[in-house]
Amino acid sequence: MTEILDLPADATAAETPQSTAPRRKLFIKSYGCQMNAYDAQKMSDLLAPAGFDETQSLDDADLVILNTCHIRERASEKTFSELGKVREVKLARRADGLATQIVVAGCVAQAEGSEILRRQKAVDLVVGPQNYHRLPDLLRRAETAPVIDTEFPVEDKFDFLVKAPRRITQARGVTAFVTVQEGCDKFCTFCVVPYTRGTEVSRPVEKIVAEIEDLADAGVREITLLGQNVNAYHGEGPDGRTWSLAKLCARLAEVPGIARLRYTTSHPNDMDDDLIAAHRDLPALMPFLHLPVQSGSDTILTAMNRKHNRESYREIVRRLRVARPDIALSSDFIVGFPGESDADFAATLDLIREIGFASTFFFKYSPRLGTPGADMDAQVPEDVKAARLIELQDLVETQRRAFNQSLVGRTLAVLFEKTGRHAGQIAGRSPYLQPVQVDASDTMIGRVAPVEITGVGPNSLFGRLIPREAERL
Ligand code: 5AD
Ligand code: SF4
Repeated sequence: MTEILDLPADATAAETPQSTAPRRKLFIKSYGCQMNAYDAQKMSDLLAPAGFDETQSLDDADLVILNTCHIRERASEKTFSELGKVREVKLARRADGLATQIVVAGCVAQAEGSEILRRQKAVDLVVGPQNYHRLPDLLRRAETAPVIDTEFPVEDKFDFLVKAPRRITQARGVTAFVTVQEGCDKFCTFCVVPYTRGTEVSRPVEKIVAEIEDLADAGVREITLLGQNVNAYHGEGPDGRTWSLAKLCARLAEVPGIARLRYTTSHPNDMDDDLIAAHRDLPALMPFLHLPVQSGSDTILTAMNRKHNRESYREIVRRLRVARPDIALSSDFIVGFPGESDADFAATLDLIREIGFASTFFFKYSPRLGTPGADMDAQVPEDVKAARLIELQDLVETQRRAFNQSLVGRTLAVLFEKTGRHAGQIAGRSPYLQPVQVDASDTMIGRVAPVEITGVGPNSLFGRLIPREAERL
């Protein structure tokens, strides 16, 4: 591994040797989940000492990275169509005597590998989500011939990533993502993640704490801990024991400057007693939880290999609401999984009505090559899936509006993130992640303050800052 990066494993930006070559431009586009967004930031940070500055303009880019997502419909097709456009840019730049390297990263890279180089000759490098720490070296090698790196490495990529300079972290705002766990051992029958991101791996506590202390030092106030199965976290603690997510959250709540913690995405079976209790005991842990259930029908949950059922999900929600009465939930649902009957779908609608979600993500089942679901009989016809999707959409939209409306008149703690849409306005987020617009000075950015919710727009809430005097009453 020594040839991969000319940096020590614990290199900080301040210590990072800067290249004397002219700076080049990096265009990076990320698709899909928040972990992909985090990975894209890390790639950018890693390439900065190698001489790259980010640009928003594809035409100017010396290096183009598409950080792809493979989870749902036509992911590969979207990648190839995007690559077609990037190829045009590469050819136009070549006519002007400029070189452009094209990289396909992320989960399509992992899943398709050499197929990408076969179908799109303009691509220089295909790199999987566990290998992007090798980018500087891989790019050098790709100057002579196309390169693929999708083998799961033995080393921990996080040991090779570099810290962003403080000014970059500050420019990214007061909220940040931090990956604490990657991969999945659950093998739901619809899902490609166990194949693209590999088995479950948790980062050691001390490394996470160090990363979050740096972020807090640069002004970050809210951290979202990321993992494909984040509540299955089982990282090595400073005491040599295995720490759970609950214990990690308790430690992170002590980091000076960190006001808010969130974590996503969770599996119902990993909501253990300690984690439920953490929602009661840790004020920093926001009362908003993304807990995908996928379906309300036990038959379908079994076919999905979810390893939980409708009743066990309801029981977890009951316990969470006892622990933290103001908790709100969001979930993912798949409609049209193979074998889903009208009655199964009705059970899903019924569960949604019963639980009452603050927000919901819903998807038409799309067979993913290599997953057991793709080979199942009784695939649901497209028109049935589409009709069910519309019905689901109506229900969850009604619920979302009802939840937003229920907040009018209540006082919520808002973390202010940026200036608002209009002069004199600032925008923040409620504990439930809704954008909140408030008339207040931008000196409030980075602070958490009580806001009385006065109105609801289509996608945000409006509120009035509670004056300090009132706050003390
Ligand atoms: N088809 C449709 N939706 C899917 N998801 C994952 N795989 C598929 C698939 N093959 C959804 C699940 C998951 C979310 C991230 O994407 O609901 O929770
Ligand atoms: Fe995919 Fe299921 Fe693992 Fe989530 S728990 S990443 S849906 S296999």
